[in-house]
Amino acid sequence: MAENLLVNRSLSKAEQYENLLPQIKALISGEPNMVANMANIAAALKQAFNFFWVGFYTLDENNLVLAPFQGPIACTRIAFGKGVCGKVWESQETIVVDDVNAFPGHIACSSESLSEIVIPIFSKGNFIGVLDVDSNKLADFDSTDKKYLEELVTLLD
Ligand code: SME
Repeated sequence: MAENLLVNRSLSKAEQYENLLPQIKALISGEPNMVANMANIAAALKQAFNFFWVGFYTLDENNLVLAPFQGPIACTRIAFGKGVCGKVWESQETIVVDDVNAFPGHIACSSESLSEIVIPIFSKGNFIGVLDVDSNKLADFDSTDKKYLEELVTLLD
């Protein structure tokens, strides 16, 4: 396992993801424990992009429940169809929110969070949870984040 993550913030966002994904792949390869891998992915994304909040919610019977994350404390349980995460569970598709205050039903874990991207995670074809990234800037996520974060979560399959 690599000891240090190589991060170069002077690169474009796409280039940074291109550098980061192989490092994350190496970091989690050979480790079957999902919690350990989610913990290192959250830490790597935080270290690389300094996102305000980055982490996982995983299916726990009838809810999504908080899983490894980096950032301020967060809501523990999210019901099907509730908030951005619950809507992603319902639609099984990524949702990019430019302004969380304009998203009906958004669950505000922190008033500092202004935009958000939530990606569904599948294992063997079944929905198992979401990767949620929050920013304290408006409209901070775009199709580049969507493309690479969707690719990233396939490493958990
Ligand atoms: N905003 C999310 C809740 C999780 S936090 O952002 C960490 C939502 O609306 O589902």
